[in-house]
Amino acid sequence: MAIERTLSIIKPDATRRNLTGKINAMLEGAGLRIVAQKRLRLTRAQAEGFYDVHAERPFFNDLCTFMTSGPVVVQVLEGESAVAKNREVMGATNPADAAEGTIRKECAESIEANSVHGSDSSENAAKEIAFFFAEEEIVG
Ligand code: CMP
Repeated sequence: MAIERTLSIIKPDATRRNLTGKINAMLEGAGLRIVAQKRLRLTRAQAEGFYDVHAERPFFNDLCTFMTSGPVVVQVLEGESAVAKNREVMGATNPADAAEGTIRKECAESIEANSVHGSDSSENAAKEIAFFFAEEEIVG
């Protein structure tokens, strides 16, 4: 199995409730290494650009409003099968469907305010990482 990188976002519902440390501990506990991290407030243009693939979805406008409603923490996670491992520790998109012990089961408020984002493939991970980070900001 290869060492991979994936993009993670701790969303505004989680930063608002001071859950950054708890979520980071869950990520690290799953064997993922945080090799880059920054806290920022997304602009509307950044949110729309990042979620471009969802532009036609009915929830797109609300999603962009939510993602700009407070600070986020964007991070690069590294480890064996990091994309799949992160998706496993995040749990299902809808917290009602998320397994026990997952971040979304423990932290998420709703399908929109679901505490974390994680890349869904290694191809998208590369694009999403490049959206936020220069290579020299990632220290493995
Ligand atoms: P995320 O993994 O960040 O990718 C797209 C986001 O859209 C998703 O998590 C949810 O927070 C949000 N979203 C809001 N409504 C829905 C929905 N009905 N189905 C899927 N995602 C939704």
